[in-house]
Amino acid sequence: EVWNPSGKYRVISTKPMPGTRWIKLLTDQDCRVEICTEKKTILSVEDIIALIGTKCDGVIGQLTEDWGEVLFSALKKAGGTAFSNMAVGYNNVDVDAATKYGIAVGNTPGVLTETTAELAASLSLSAARRIVEADQFMRAGLYEGWLPNLFVGNLLKGQTVGVIGAGRIGSAYARMMVEGFKMNLIYYDLYQSTRLEKYLPIIAYGQFLKANGEQPVTWKRAATMEDVLREADVISLHPILDKTTYHLINKERLAIMKKEAVLVNCSRGPVINEVDLVEHLRVNPMFRVGLDVFEDEPYMKPGLAEMKNAVVVPHIASASKWTREGMATLAALNVLGKIKGYPVWANPNQ
Ligand code: DGY
Repeated sequence: EVWNPSGKYRVISTKPMPGTRWIKLLTDQDCRVEICTEKKTILSVEDIIALIGTKCDGVIGQLTEDWGEVLFSALKKAGGTAFSNMAVGYNNVDVDAATKYGIAVGNTPGVLTETTAELAASLSLSAARRIVEADQFMRAGLYEGWLPNLFVGNLLKGQTVGVIGAGRIGSAYARMMVEGFKMNLIYYDLYQSTRLEKYLPIIAYGQFLKANGEQPVTWKRAATMEDVLREADVISLHPILDKTTYHLINKERLAIMKKEAVLVNCSRGPVINEVDLVEHLRVNPMFRVGLDVFEDEPYMKPGLAEMKNAVVVPHIASASKWTREGMATLAALNVLGKIKGYPVWANPNQ
């Protein structure tokens, strides 16, 4: 699909993206926009090289693509200077390779913070209250009437929520769980982010005032990640994926979590050793997970699909209309910024 065919700058989007605002932004600024409508979900490096062709100024790409040495050198050869992932995470992008070829890298932080935190909250609730299991039970026609022991789950109020990775999304999630469900909070940030600290006294005080004689919530920064794993009833993972967070959650760390804990992952699949997780779910039926991401997307490790104590959704944490249109717009702004010499919205290599 081609927009503004006579535009001076050739910008490619490797996928159709929501809305038209991002297209207008580019076409208004003399860009010819080419959108790849190829049916297959994941484009290979060869597919993208073919798209880039011999002249290309910038590319908007997706987290499913391998943006390394080969693609950045092809983009450079085609005269390109700009690449933006339509994602906040950029573990699929070799930023050093891009820098080597003089290509600016963009990502799309901010617009997906609350949407992603809301999905983490949804998964926390779904897993704690066994919503998917109960839904399947209803649909299978198995409901014969109210029973005292039917789908008994965990009450969140007064329990402890543990957050690992207290950046933008982890902090938003923490606030939702503390304010919304009156959970106590323990958190650990691998980069010692202080983002959350600003809000916590306000939340705790607000809860205290509103709570009509109820206990105010408590919160603390943990000295180690293990403290979070040991103490929390619901644990949500929000780190970036890099070599330090690969398989952060493994057999040993699963073993120190409470037997009835809920573990949620809306970050990146390889943060959890999924084989270890499947085994842990198998031997601990009261342990529950809510997963948005998987180690080898689009696949799940053998056995995971059969686990009743797992809620699984297909990497949809940022999938609200407002957010996805915002991500597309920011990705376009990143590329446009570099091409036209305007400020770039978000630039991991500058
Ligand atoms: C991201 O942005 O990194 C998400 O995984 C997709 O929204």
